[in-house]
Amino acid sequence: MSNKSKSCGKAGLRFHIRTFGCQMNMHDSEKIAGVLTEAGYCESSGSDDADVIVLNTCSIREKAEQKFFSELGRLGKAKEKNPRLKIAVAGCIARQRGKDLFRRFPYVDFVFGPDNIDNIYPWIMPEPAAAQEATSQSEGRATAIEYNPEYSTKKLPVKREGQVRAWVSIMYGCDNFCAYCVVPYTRGRERSRPAEDICDEIKSLADGGFREVTLLGQNVNSYGKKLSGESCDFPGLLYRIHDIDGIERIRFVTSHPRDFSEKLIKAMRDLPKVCEHLHLPLQSGSDKILQLMNRGYTYEDYKRKIDDLRNNINNIAITTDIIVGFPGESDEDFQRTADALDEIGFDGIFAFKYSRRPGTKALELPGHLDERVKSQRLSMVLKLQEAVTSRKNKSLEGGVYEVLVEGKSATDGDRLTGRTRTNKIVNFYGERALIGSIVRVKILEAKQHSLYGEAIQNHS
Ligand code: SAH
Ligand code: SF4
Ligand code: F3S
Repeated sequence: MSNKSKSCGKAGLRFHIRTFGCQMNMHDSEKIAGVLTEAGYCESSGSDDADVIVLNTCSIREKAEQKFFSELGRLGKAKEKNPRLKIAVAGCIARQRGKDLFRRFPYVDFVFGPDNIDNIYPWIMPEPAAAQEATSQSEGRATAIEYNPEYSTKKLPVKREGQVRAWVSIMYGCDNFCAYCVVPYTRGRERSRPAEDICDEIKSLADGGFREVTLLGQNVNSYGKKLSGESCDFPGLLYRIHDIDGIERIRFVTSHPRDFSEKLIKAMRDLPKVCEHLHLPLQSGSDKILQLMNRGYTYEDYKRKIDDLRNNINNIAITTDIIVGFPGESDEDFQRTADALDEIGFDGIFAFKYSRRPGTKALELPGHLDERVKSQRLSMVLKLQEAVTSRKNKSLEGGVYEVLVEGKSATDGDRLTGRTRTNKIVNFYGERALIGSIVRVKILEAKQHSLYGEAIQNHS
C-alpha cells in the first residue's frame, strides 16, 4: 500500500510546509502546522504525498522572492497531476501581493498573511458560511491578508520541530521603518503579547521538557511599549521568564541598537539563565549611511554599547547583520564598515547586498550601486569576517564549555550536536540519552562553522 492511500489523522489528509525566511517565519510555520494538526491533518514526508502544500514566504530580499516564485512555478505541474491538491501561500509575500498571486499562478487556492494563520480553519473545513465570513473568496479561491490589531492576544496551537529548544513570539510587527526594509509593510504595526500569555506558554514548554527558549520579535527592546495596565518592559519580562522552573537558557532576537538599554545589559548580567550571546545588527559603519537607513544611532553609539556589554558580561559573543551597497555608499563609507568589523571583532556576521524592495524609502534615494560593486563589497566583508571568526573559534580550543544537547548531528550522525551558551555549535560523541541535558565538553578542534570536542562529564 502506498503512503498516499494510508489514511492519516481524523481528516485522513496530509500537509507539507516549505518555509522561507527568518526565525519568525519558521515559528509561524510551526503555528500553521499546529492549526492543521488540530484540524485533523498530519504531516507528510515531503511534497509528493501531500494533500495540502503551504509555502510560507519571505520578501526581505529579491533573491528570497525569486526562490519562492520558482518553487511555486514547479507546483503547477504537481497540481496538473493531482487536481485535488490544495496550494496555499502564506507569509510576507502573501501579505504584500494578496490576490495578485492568483493572476500569475491560477492554481493557488489560498493566500493568507502572518496575522491570519487561524483563517486556515475555515479554509480547510469549508462550512460555506464561515469560510465566506473569515476569508474573502472569489472563484473558489480565498484570501485572508488583513492586518489584525488583536493578533497578539491570540493563542494558536504550535507543532514544534524540536524537543529541547523552542521559539516563543513576544511581539509582532515593526514600527521602525528602516529605509531598506519591507517588514513594517508585511508584518504591520508593533504589538506586544501580554506577559501573562508568554509566561504561561513558557511554563507549559518547561513542563513538556523544553530547556531553552528564544524570544522572538523584530525589535525585542521595545517590548511592552504599547501594553497598558500591569505590563512590563523587556528587561522586566526577562526577570519573569527567569523565574520559570525547568527553563535553563533564555535567548532573544532581534535587538535594535537604538533601544538597547543599560537596564537590559544589567538584566543580562544578573540573570544566569540569559545566555552570553547577543545579535545586534549594525548594518553599516558609516554614520552617513546609518542616517540614510533611518537607523537612529551612530557608529560611536553602537560601539559604546558593545564596550558596555563586554565590560559587564565576560566573554559575551556578539553577532551582527551588515548590508553592503546601500544607495549612496561610497568607497569611504564601505571602508568604515570594514573598519568596524575589524575594530569590534564579531563572533559571526550575516552580510547581504542591498536589495531594492517595493514601497520602501530607499528606492527613491539617489546613488543606487550596480550589482558588480555590491558583489565585490560583499566578498570583501565575508573574507574579512572569515579570518576574525576563525581566530575567535581557534581561541576556544582546549577550553571546556557547557553544551545543551539538541540531537544527533545532521552532518555526522554518529555525533551529538548542541550549542554553547555563546551559541557556538559543538559536535561530540555521546549517547542519545544525553539529548536534552547540559554536558561539559572540551573543545578539541575549531572549524569555521562548528566546534568538535569530547564530553567531560554530564552534570544535569
Ligand atoms: N528586525 C530585525 C531583522 C530584520 S531582517 C532587525 O532589525 O535586525 C534581517 C536582516 O536582513 C536585516 O538586519 C538586514 O541586515 C537585512 N535586510 C533587510 N532588508 C534588506 C534589504 N532590502 N536588502 C538587503 N538586506 C536587507
Ligand atoms: Fe526591518 Fe528595521 Fe524593523 Fe528590523 S527594525 S524589521 S530592519 S524595519
Ligand atoms: Fe522575511 Fe518576513 Fe522574516 S520578509 S525575514 S519572513 S519578517
